[in-house]
Amino acid sequence: MRGIVILGSTGSIGTQALDVISRMPDEFQVVGLAAGTNIDLLETQIRQFKPETASLAAFSLTDELKGRELPEVELLSGQSGLQAMVERDDVDLVLNAVVGSQGIRPTLAAIKAGKDVALANKETLVAAGSIIMQAVKEHNVRILPVDSEHNAIFQCLQGVEDDYLQKIILTASGGPFRKNTAQELEQMTPKQALDHPTWNMGDKVTIDSATLMNKGLEVIEAHWLFGLPGTRIDVVIHPQSIIHSLIELIDGSVLAQLGVPDMRLPIQYALTYPKRSNSPVPLLSLAEIGSLEFEEPDMQRFPCLGLAFDVLKAGGTYPTVLNAANEAAVEAFLKGQIGFMDIPRVVNEVLQGHQNVSEPDLHDILEMDSTARKDCALHINRLNG
Ligand SMILES: NC(=O)c1ccc[n+]([C@@H]2O[C@H](COP(=O)([O-])OP(=O)(O)OC[C@H]3O[C@@H](n4cnc5c(N)ncnc54)[C@H](OP(=O)(O)O)[C@@H]3O)[C@@H](O)[C@H]2O)c1
Repeated sequence: MRGIVILGSTGSIGTQALDVISRMPDEFQVVGLAAGTNIDLLETQIRQFKPETASLAAFSLTDELKGRELPEVELLSGQSGLQAMVERDDVDLVLNAVVGSQGIRPTLAAIKAGKDVALANKETLVAAGSIIMQAVKEHNVRILPVDSEHNAIFQCLQGVEDDYLQKIILTASGGPFRKNTAQELEQMTPKQALDHPTWNMGDKVTIDSATLMNKGLEVIEAHWLFGLPGTRIDVVIHPQSIIHSLIELIDGSVLAQLGVPDMRLPIQYALTYPKRSNSPVPLLSLAEIGSLEFEEPDMQRFPCLGLAFDVLKAGGTYPTVLNAANEAAVEAFLKGQIGFMDIPRVVNEVLQGHQNVSEPDLHDILEMDSTARKDCALHINRLNG
């Protein structure tokens, strides 16, 4: 039995991970569950999985949970709660499925405590990739990618020597607005943007998929996970989301990983690696699907993808700022404060004003993250007159 902690247990990835784990009762012992504000679902999860410890974002929420006659469980709160949870001796694996750059510190704490990390929280690598990968090397732990594209590449790379890898090809569904004109994109509402054609995900990543910022963040994530520059990472639109990503080798061979679009597959592989278990979902039928389509991404209509390639090239704290400004802009869009195409505009304006730190430490990264959010708020206020 491996002891596992799930950060973000009440979210899209967290609940699917618990579904996977519940099918393998002899493999995992759930040691810790951490949520943000969804007390009711966390309470249900505590009753079902009986973890040693559980945590909520704020002390007041944990206090409320204490009054609910739970099975014996140590209740924690905030960033310190996440840190204490991942550092426990009975934890072997940490699944980080919180959303946003708040995932940086618990990921780092887990690595420093010598734990393997199954990483769904891509913002951690985008904002703090150099620090995270350095810590991974120093503490000799593994980052197991949960994102379906990176999980696919990770699978394709098994047994492939580094020298044989030419490039990585990330697939993208194209999101709900793939066929809309630039003019139509200006008018898109949060409700329309949240209606993703192939994946059912949390709100922030769904909006990122609609702007293609999600693919941009994944390009940066792939750079850190697999050590390739942006010039060797391609993106292709593939609306059916059946091919989860591909690698091209120096002899021109292309290897792909395919499967039904269900996150329980990559979650399960990340949790059981290097072993495999029976599929928790119906198997893929290519005959039923019939045909697979591919097209170039349009960086004019979806400028977020180009911005991500630019910041990856610029390096330093540029990716941190891109990520933080995007988190703030997406939040403002979801609240109806800015339009859909204001997301790339605002992110670009924040990037234009940024003074780069070329070799940032954790302090620089957290400071730039916070400054970028403040700058973003100023631009949003200006847009609203
Ligand atoms: N969903 C997908 O299919 C998918 C695919 C690939 C990658 N990812 C990545 O995985 C991450 C999670 O995505 P998601 O779609 O699962 O998001 P989500 O549904 O919004 O879930 C986010 C989780 O984080 C928790 N959380 C928020 N603030 C917290 C805090 N301060 N402390 C502890 N937990 C906190 C939330 O708790 P409450 O709900 O209780 O507030 C929730 O459990 C993102 O980085 C995303 O880009 C997701």
